[in-house]
Amino acid sequence: MAFIDWNDNFLIGIRECDIQHKKLVNMFNALHEAIRLNIEKKAIEEALYSLVKYFDEHFKLEEELMEKGGYPEVEEHKEEHKNFKEKLNNMLQSYQEKGNITLREMLKFFKNWWINHILIMDKKYGIFLKK
Ligand code: FEO
Repeated sequence: MAFIDWNDNFLIGIRECDIQHKKLVNMFNALHEAIRLNIEKKAIEEALYSLVKYFDEHFKLEEELMEKGGYPEVEEHKEEHKNFKEKLNNMLQSYQEKGNITLREMLKFFKNWWINHILIMDKKYGIFLKK
């Protein structure tokens, strides 16, 4: 069983975003597998930083689409992305500098946040932009 099993409930109906969401799930699963197999730390960290970078790319695309489409809750959505990135950066700092958070804990936080976010906030703008 994968760390996150993709299912069509995650689809929001905006093609570019659905493609990116699927890629994020694949990246989550690859990172989780790398941690589970305990492969070289450097390779795990590279996968982690690629995931973090891809989150930025994804948020940027969503925010542009919401702005372009006149989505009325774009500011709340952007705020949610910003808060997530702040938490993420704090966690990365704790991991790198203090070592008081594990990769597994970080991944669990990513997963919970992401599933909740896609099913509520992303679905909402998807419905609006499809109109
Ligand atoms: Fe798909 Fe708002 O992140």
